[in-house]
Amino acid sequence: MNTFEFNKIAGAVLAGILLLMVIGEVAHFAVEPTHLDKPAYAIDTSSVASTEVASDDKKKPQDPPIGVLMASADPAKGEKIFKKCHACHNAEEGAGAKIGPDLYGILDRPKGSAEGFSYSSGMKEKGGNWTYEDLYHFLKKPSAFIDGTKMSFAGLKKPEDRADIIAFLRTLGKSDVPLPPAQ
Ligand code: HEC
Repeated sequence: MNTFEFNKIAGAVLAGILLLMVIGEVAHFAVEPTHLDKPAYAIDTSSVASTEVASDDKKKPQDPPIGVLMASADPAKGEKIFKKCHACHNAEEGAGAKIGPDLYGILDRPKGSAEGFSYSSGMKEKGGNWTYEDLYHFLKKPSAFIDGTKMSFAGLKKPEDRADIIAFLRTLGKSDVPLPPAQ
């Protein structure tokens, strides 16, 4: 037997012993499980549960009423955010439709009423004029407010952004539309 062979055998024997030890340990746990009366680490789940609820609340915060936001909405900021809309909408009087209708004087305008624009049936059927409230909801997620809308725009998540845009839209020909109550 040369040293190389001896090493191989010794290695195999050692590996065998190790394996037996591992099996022994596992068997020990399997056959004699130790039950503790109390968990080794007491975890206060009540606080976990309450933070979970809190973080759920955070995920779905209630949007503040538009009336409250309008009090501090900034039309200049809204004009900047309107760049997102400008690809599809003109905002000047008589500029006409692009992909979407001209939004000049949109506040208090009957929904789906720009002349010559071919609206989706969802928009035509919605009814009523564009109030602050309706614009606030529509711009959050257009497809949720108008079934099958042609406006392929994801929406503006931030309530403040929507209020700023509405404040800007308000400067376009209809600034006398009374603001919703700030409550
Ligand atoms: C990808 C193009 C596109 C973008 C971007 C877009 N819109 Fe529109 N928008 C449309 C189309 C198309 C319609 C018509 C929807 C229909 O008929 O259902 C529309 C309709 C509207 C209406 C209703 C108009 C009416 O006459 O009743 C409003 C208000 C409006 N958009 C506001 C906005 C604002 C504000 C933004 C930016 C935050 C914006 N849109 C971004 C395409 C767009």
